[in-house]
Amino acid sequence: HESITKIKYIDKLQFGNYEIDTWYFSPFPGDYGKARTLYVCEYCLKYMRMRKSYSYHTYVCRKRHPPGREIYRKGNISIFEVNGKEEPLYCQLLCLMAKLFLDHKVLYFDMDPFFFYILCEVDREGSHIVGYFSKEKKSPDNNNVACILVLPPHQRKGFGKLLIAFSYELSRREGVIGSPEKPLSDLGRLSYRSYWAYTLLELMRNRVSLEQTTIKELSEVSGITHDDIIYTLQSMKMIKYWKGQNVICVTTKTIFDHLLLPQFKKPKLTIDRSYLFWNPTN
Ligand code: COA
Ligand code: NA
Repeated sequence: HESITKIKYIDKLQFGNYEIDTWYFSPFPGDYGKARTLYVCEYCLKYMRMRKSYSYHTYVCRKRHPPGREIYRKGNISIFEVNGKEEPLYCQLLCLMAKLFLDHKVLYFDMDPFFFYILCEVDREGSHIVGYFSKEKKSPDNNNVACILVLPPHQRKGFGKLLIAFSYELSRREGVIGSPEKPLSDLGRLSYRSYWAYTLLELMRNRVSLEQTTIKELSEVSGITHDDIIYTLQSMKMIKYWKGQNVICVTTKTIFDHLLLPQFKKPKLTIDRSYLFWNPTN
């Protein structure tokens, strides 16, 4: 029965100026879940089944940016913090839409325990959602990301790694060594590994004495957990298990060789901390 109810009916999502092919089932209620094309307002996230209602709505909807507080703004890149407790409807609508692109993460009803960080591109019309991540307000495991999504038309442009960098910047201000909630999707793992690898290579590249570099120290400076560092260094064959311990095993040459490889390139977009107006007591 479970598998029958999870058939994906919604093929297309009309969102702002984009018509997006959907990836997975999402539990939109009743007939909305059976629509071939679902129309969603890019500003208030209201969903509709008819093009006519959508056209009318886009004409009357006054919203031009997410609710909550704009905590980061540099150039045309903007990030809003939305409190799940204060804006439950908006957050529910966001999760429903996001589920169309997320395989396993389920998070639809209780929004109270989460903050949502909404990344937008700003132009004269308004602030257009590019992606977001959710984060537990209190995470016993120090997870700094619950769910992360970049909408398909905006993928592979560096926004995913920008959101990841942002999540580590929030943790840094909280004084926490954080990690994304597991399991990661395939795309999630690729993006994190790419972020972790470049961050660690850059850190090690600037070391005078690589012999004295430890995982503990890399973790403190980067904000990346011990386990995530081991996983990343293992994937680059830069670690050895020796006398019951994981030991970093690199030379300046192996680091520079790695940095020359196409997969370890400079991020296209970066967070400039001086434009982040946020502290953990907010
Ligand atoms: N094929 C191969 N590598 C990919 C890839 C793909 N389709 N997508 C991402 N990567 C890797 C690349 O190394 C890429 O860096 P590069 O473009 O510099 O080579 C890196 O991951 C991240 O790219 P970036 O452009 O910063 O990420 P993104 O904006 O595409 O967003 C996700 C990444 C994971 C947020 C996005 O793919 C997504 O929303 N996926 C669906 C939802 C999801 O799975 N979320 C994670 C749940 S745990
Ligand atoms: Na991608």
